[in-house]
Amino acid sequence: MAVATVAVLVAAAGGALWLAARRFGGHGVQTRQGEGDCGLMRGKTVLITGANSGLGRATAAALLRSGARVIMGCRDRARAEEAAAQLRGELGGAGGSGPGQLVVRELDLASLSSVRAFCRQLLQEEPQLDVLINNAGVFQCPYMKTEDGFEMQFGVNHLGHFLLTNLLLGLLKSSAPSRIVVVSSKLYKYGDINFEDLNSEQSYNKSFCYSRSKLANILFTRELARRLEGSNVTVNVLHPGIVRTNLGRHIHIPLLMKPLFNLVSWAFFKSPTEGAQTSIYLASSPEVEGVSGKYFGDCKEEDLLPKAMDEAVARKLWDISEVMVGILK
Ligand SMILES: NC(=O)c1ccc[n+]([C@@H]2O[C@H](COP(=O)([O-])OP(=O)(O)OC[C@H]3O[C@@H](n4cnc5c(N)ncnc54)[C@H](OP(=O)(O)O)[C@@H]3O)[C@@H](O)[C@H]2O)c1
Ligand SMILES: *[C@@H]1O[C@H](CO)[C@@H](O)[C@H](O)[C@H]1NC(C)=O
Ligand SMILES: *[C@@H]1O[C@H](CO)[C@@H](O)[C@H](O)[C@H]1NC(C)=O
Repeated sequence: MAVATVAVLVAAAGGALWLAARRFGGHGVQTRQGEGDCGLMRGKTVLITGANSGLGRATAAALLRSGARVIMGCRDRARAEEAAAQLRGELGGAGGSGPGQLVVRELDLASLSSVRAFCRQLLQEEPQLDVLINNAGVFQCPYMKTEDGFEMQFGVNHLGHFLLTNLLLGLLKSSAPSRIVVVSSKLYKYGDINFEDLNSEQSYNKSFCYSRSKLANILFTRELARRLEGSNVTVNVLHPGIVRTNLGRHIHIPLLMKPLFNLVSWAFFKSPTEGAQTSIYLASSPEVEGVSGKYFGDCKEEDLLPKAMDEAVARKLWDISEVMVGILK
């Protein structure tokens, strides 16, 4: 038994090291970091939710480097200011035409009143908004509710961003051509929009609820793209792959397994910079100008399962979301 365990550990570690070696040999995920330096985003304002950590932070770094004014919408001011200070430090000596501006604003997507207050201030302060990146997310937390009584993952990942996007749509339209980028996940495949229990009061399955929220991100994108036809505001959705971030904070890994997990994630998972490439691409690349309602991975369009393309479900979800967040006109 012990021998078998050791053998498995050794094999896994060997595999991880082999992969790491390949990665350093240049066969890893292609990054487009260098593109950031050319001032592509100068004069543009970008809002990124959850920009203090993981993918959001890496996306902020790249867009800042390419000259954008980046607004970090974060729930914890201290964590956000710390990340902002680090980003400014990292980019300080970037040279060239110099990085753009970085601004921290408080935004708790688990509170509709926080979303409203955030938007009120942003609409007063910002004359334009060129890119909105709905990036923040909660992954497989224990059963929790938002301030307004929504199941946490559906509440933050979908409903909070739903209200945010709707309140900022006027500014995005007046700033057109402008873009909305939505960060979903391949795990959408395991979700369903069970309209009869959107707050998971009858039963809670944390994996299902994460997948449901990420399916909602895709349905939201497609319905919004339909509504935005002809406006020169585009909206696309992406999956980043498996990325080494703080997303797994609610997943318990036994102490003894931690070194192995760290090794495997170091070798097999993307770095945040690698994982952020599709977000950066959809936010800034001239290649996707005018493209809307599409699903991307590794900077390429990908197919969706039929359940993510169901227009009737997308419309019904939109209507119910309007009622839930209280913006029914
Ligand atoms: N990592 C992956 O492998 C992976 C795979 C597929 C999809 N994704 C998606 O990628 C996105 C970014 O995740 P990540 O991997 O970068 O994870 P992360 O490092 O945990 O970052 C998530 C961000 O969301 C913020 N956030 C959480 N709850 C919030 C709330 N109520 N209001 C405002 N912000 C909130 C977090 O803020 P705090 O730091 O204050 O907690 C953090 O800034 C998520 O939408 C996730 O579903 C990630
Ligand atoms: C929870 O949901 C996941 C994904 O939908 C599913 O694979 C799993 O079987 C569910 N677990 C239980 C206990 O129902
Ligand atoms: C969208 O952009 C095109 C090309 O620049 C322009 O002709 C058209 O008037 C714009 N439409 C709106 C609604 O802004």
